[in-house]
Amino acid sequence: MEQNRDQWGSRLGFVLATIGSAVGLGNIWRFSYMAYENGGGAFLFPYIFALLTAGIPLLLLEMGFGFFTRKSAPSSFRKVSKKFEWVGWWSVLVAFTVVVYYIVIIAWSLLFVFKSFSLGWTANPETYFFGEFLNFSGSAFNLGGIQWPIFIALVAVWLINYFIIAGGVQKGIEKASKIFMPLLASMLLIIVIRGITLPGSMAGIKAFLAPDFSRIFELGIWLDAFGQVFFTLSLGFGIMIAYSSYLPKKSDVIKNGVIAAFADAIFAIIAGLGVFGILGYMAQAQGVSVAEVATSGIGLAFIAFPKAINLLPAVPQLFGLFFFLSLTVAGLSSSVSLIESVVSSLIDNFSLSRKKAVTMVSILGFLMGIPMVTQGGLAILDIFDHFVNIFGLLTVGFVEMLVLSYAFDLDKIKDNMNPSSDLQVGPIWKVLVKFVSPILIGFGLLQNVVSEFSTVYGGYALAEVITFGWVAVALVLLAAFYLGSRKDTII
Ligand code: PHE
Ligand code: NA
Repeated sequence: MEQNRDQWGSRLGFVLATIGSAVGLGNIWRFSYMAYENGGGAFLFPYIFALLTAGIPLLLLEMGFGFFTRKSAPSSFRKVSKKFEWVGWWSVLVAFTVVVYYIVIIAWSLLFVFKSFSLGWTANPETYFFGEFLNFSGSAFNLGGIQWPIFIALVAVWLINYFIIAGGVQKGIEKASKIFMPLLASMLLIIVIRGITLPGSMAGIKAFLAPDFSRIFELGIWLDAFGQVFFTLSLGFGIMIAYSSYLPKKSDVIKNGVIAAFADAIFAIIAGLGVFGILGYMAQAQGVSVAEVATSGIGLAFIAFPKAINLLPAVPQLFGLFFFLSLTVAGLSSSVSLIESVVSSLIDNFSLSRKKAVTMVSILGFLMGIPMVTQGGLAILDIFDHFVNIFGLLTVGFVEMLVLSYAFDLDKIKDNMNPSSDLQVGPIWKVLVKFVSPILIGFGLLQNVVSEFSTVYGGYALAEVITFGWVAVALVLLAAFYLGSRKDTII
């Protein structure tokens, strides 16, 4: 089996695919607002602290682990002990849950690419988005009808993913990354240059980066930094384990990982300049303060940006095109990595061909996405996203670090990646993975769980949050235990 395993064709291909996974919606619409809300430039301190103490150490752990086992997450954890196979399945199932709704957002972006040509979001993007576009019912229980344009875009986005992944690691994912990443970087650069040269943009950038050091002692800021670092580096999804399992034997895992982590941070900061430059312009054009227009996530991309684009002095269509194409491409390179984590595990465990595995995952993922393209879709998606962030990546990452530190031997991973790497991991890395990160993350998790029980998320009805949050979390865990306890496994 070992001989047949897919392999990356070049170091550049692997690095670009890893950056492709890391650079996503989080860099474009999450980081800048988080910084803005959390002390501006002062947020860079907790952010870099979290990156160095938890993000990069865990990234190298996941990469080193996959490089050592040369298998996807479930089989990798099975090599630790059959008892822990479920941890691998857990991360894979979380990846699957995420990709189901992540692809719905890519589908919206794709539709907005086409709307750019005519500024089809109308003069009032807010009523357009919730009204005509989503027909949002306001409740996860009130699905109403399917929104057919989104349904069709959903099919299209799954098909694009399908063809990339069915093409294999080298001829599919690597090739796509070599097109996607340069394309994304150049489009973002154009957006940023436009963004920072508009009148009023400096006020926006100031809001994003002016440091407010008085905030730095707030606990919440540090917790946000850890959450953001895990999310932005795609940790806790089995992705980096799978991607590194395709590396040739003598690869420089450590340097590749560090390059990817810094590239991700640079993308986030540069994208933030563009985003806040444009928000600053919009604020000035409307005669309001930056605070009144600053937002993130879905509201930023599908409401605030269309509003700003409407106000642009020259060729707003072109700007819209670049922006929504960037979102689409950034999203696609991340969704491919999420799906590959699942596909790789199916191939390793059920002796399925790649084509069969991708077909199964795509059909199931598409079907599960259908409720999210109905009129209640936005609520389901939002609740999913919230729970996944807490009980997905942070929890899985935490458990991964503990299992590999205490039920396995970090030295095995270290001694396997050091010889072929320029940079070395040593005692500091081990201390970070064994003690520092788990303590910090564990503490953050505790805080999150407490606040989860004290307030119902996002103003939804309790029943909605139980159904699409807690029940989903429980089902994912049960499925992971079931898959991890199967006897008919291939080693
Ligand atoms: N890292 C991606 C981002 O920053 C998000 C993501 C997480 C993508 C996990 C894939 C898997 O947007
Ligand atoms: Na990212």
